[in-house]
Amino acid sequence: MTSECYVYAILPGQTQFVTAGRFVVEEDRRGMPVGRFVYGRRYLARRDAVPIDPIELPLSERTYETTRLKGVFGAIRDASPDYWGRRVIQKHAGLAVLGEIDYLLQSPDDRAGALGFGLNVEPPAPLRIFNRTMDLERMQQLADLIIADEEPSEEEPSASEVSADRTQIEDLMLVGTSMGGARPKAVVEDAGALWIAKFNRIDDRWNQARVEHAMLILAQECGLHVAQSRVVQVGNRDALLVKRFDRIPHEDGYARARMLSALTLLRAEDTHQDRDRWSYVLLVEELRRISARPEEDARELFKRMVFNSLITNTDDHPRNHAVIAPEHEWRLSPTYDLTPFPAVSEERRDLALTIGDYGRYANATNALSQYARFLLTREEATRIIDDIEEKVKARWRAVARREGVSEQDCERIARAFVYPGFRLAATR
Ligand SMILES: Nc1ncnc2c1ncn2[C@@H]1O[C@H](COP(=O)(O)OP(=O)(O)OP(=O)(O)O)[C@@H](O)[C@H]1O
Ligand SMILES: [Mg+2]
Repeated sequence: MTSECYVYAILPGQTQFVTAGRFVVEEDRRGMPVGRFVYGRRYLARRDAVPIDPIELPLSERTYETTRLKGVFGAIRDASPDYWGRRVIQKHAGLAVLGEIDYLLQSPDDRAGALGFGLNVEPPAPLRIFNRTMDLERMQQLADLIIADEEPSEEEPSASEVSADRTQIEDLMLVGTSMGGARPKAVVEDAGALWIAKFNRIDDRWNQARVEHAMLILAQECGLHVAQSRVVQVGNRDALLVKRFDRIPHEDGYARARMLSALTLLRAEDTHQDRDRWSYVLLVEELRRISARPEEDARELFKRMVFNSLITNTDDHPRNHAVIAPEHEWRLSPTYDLTPFPAVSEERRDLALTIGDYGRYANATNALSQYARFLLTREEATRIIDDIEEKVKARWRAVARREGVSEQDCERIARAFVYPGFRLAATR
């Protein structure tokens, strides 16, 4: 287990790493992990230095310390691989015990945000050569092998029949383990930009790529600011390409935006104990603090919360919201990862985050209840809710069909949209 590393950063508008500081995870006397981060003197002396987290780790000479999140600061955790990437890296490592820093060091340089990690005080050159869309079929096959290897099912070949061998895992290590999220994905370069490719899984209940793409388009029609996307065919399946908003094409590679998840802004963990901090109402407070345009961003977050309620996106957890700083200022990121869920209940559905006075209830009265925190008047908030409701109701099916979602898949997801409980009287 590695216990320390250097933290590199790409400064606004630049394409090369500089060394920003040093990160150490040790055990305290009780055997609990303690993380320490300190900015380098040379970094602090730069006139263009920026903090890697302006709230928890502002530029300063002090040594920051945390015992939360297994000693990993939120900004660093956001740059770590998540469920999917960890799974691939663990496979690669075999029986070796990996610590948090090992995951950072073993994931490639395509992670979200502007940070990098390494054992040398001098940073490496950033990655210049990326996979192309034509490599996607191979990557999809490798992703399938990893999935099949771990979850043998009755219809599908057993683990021993399709076991991903070492070279295959080596290949997959190269294709994108450092982006977060649970679904299989890779990063590809296409038309002078970087995209996240999200693969359909064989066991998906509907064509996820098409449905997620349609939801992003629908959100855009409802006036939300969304990540650009398109669907490509990979072998005989579809995959979704989402354009990365944290990589800015530059004549000399890519400039990068710093990125912090809402989980980090909320100073929360992924665990259930921290569930009471998972809240749009708390998030908007943090957003107003960090954003260069608090009014616009608070309104945008409000729209997102309402839209998620109307498509029953119950997977709106705090890693599915972020703030980004392409330059010096922080803004709410475009919307990404929208999935409708055709829940059974017609009366009550809960989002992942608290919405208002009636908890996580995806409901108009609940959404309206804390309007002032979103810097809206009651009339403005009401208008936004009515408007998005009307658009989702009138447009979801037409948009889905136009974007290539089959009639059958539309039937499968239909229950997700504008469910009756959205307009029921809310009770505590
Ligand atoms: N367009 C984008 N530009 C930059 N980073 C992005 C973009 N879309 C997603 N990300 C980052 O990649 C992570 C994974 O993406 P996404 O949430 O779409 O995947 P997922 O596997 O569906 O996630 P989940 O586990 O929530 O189902 C996000 O949490 C976010 O940090
Ligand atoms: Mg996600």
